[in-house]
Amino acid sequence: MATLSTSLSGLKSATIRRSSPKLHNTHHFSTQLRFSSSRKPSASIVAMAGTGKFFVGGNWKCNGTKESITKLVSDLNSATLEPDVDVVVAPPFVYIDQVKSTLTDRVEVSAQNSWISKGGAFTGEISVEQLKDLGVKWVILGHSERRHIIGEDDQFIGKKAAYALSEGLGVIACIGELLEEREAGKTFDVCFQQLKAYADAVPSWDNIVIAYEPVWAIGTGKVATPQQAQDVHVAVRDWLKKNVSAEVASKTRIIYGGSVNGGNCAELAKQEDIDGFLVGGASLKGPEFATIVNSVTSKKVAA
Ligand code: PGA
Repeated sequence: MATLSTSLSGLKSATIRRSSPKLHNTHHFSTQLRFSSSRKPSASIVAMAGTGKFFVGGNWKCNGTKESITKLVSDLNSATLEPDVDVVVAPPFVYIDQVKSTLTDRVEVSAQNSWISKGGAFTGEISVEQLKDLGVKWVILGHSERRHIIGEDDQFIGKKAAYALSEGLGVIACIGELLEEREAGKTFDVCFQQLKAYADAVPSWDNIVIAYEPVWAIGTGKVATPQQAQDVHVAVRDWLKKNVSAEVASKTRIIYGGSVNGGNCAELAKQEDIDGFLVGGASLKGPEFATIVNSVTSKKVAA
């Protein structure tokens, strides 16, 4: 497994964790499994810092044909998926209808983008209303490929999120730093600025899942180390606590994306602030995606 050794400069996760009062869990298995560092037993029982259910999304990006997607859907339909995980796949727009009509209801469907307001004279765009018409429940917004290749900025993405939420879609809100930003010690600044743009635009965080995806890890095979990911997830939860509310910080799922695969998901899932994954390349293989979904078991098993 290739990893990037660049570490965060500035804040250290331990500092943030110490300065953050414990968030209280009320709903899930995490309640029983959360230990303060001083009480952590020697057998490693893994916990969730947040109270949200594990969430795994498959971002198929601009991949697939009718034929390959038929096979992928069939593999997903026959996979055994742990029950306590929200599972979502995001096909290309043109295959959403095919996927919706053939995929098990166990897996929800997301779009990879949506228009900023009600549909109309916007050539080449897809509206939230059209996505709802097809039974889509989620939309991925702010993905780094749309930020850095297409040129979408923070405010535009924030407005899209607000509109999608207002129409009842859930939003997978992506954030993440470029390699040069990490190397310049700006990882937290960049992530917090992107978070603020969402916070400034949305009236509620109820239907938002945050996806932390360091750009240098996306599609590169250079996965963040579990500690690198955990450091940022802790910081994001802390930011939510300070800037939104303790309740939102506790219940908002913060998922990791960037070269997640069947081999590295278990170690990542053990980190207490990693509440799931957004998966690109490995989500195109049904059995491997199922392995990633089922890595939730790493959270609740005593070693
Ligand atoms: P990857 O993509 O898993 O292929 O790195 C992740 C993503 O872009 O969501």
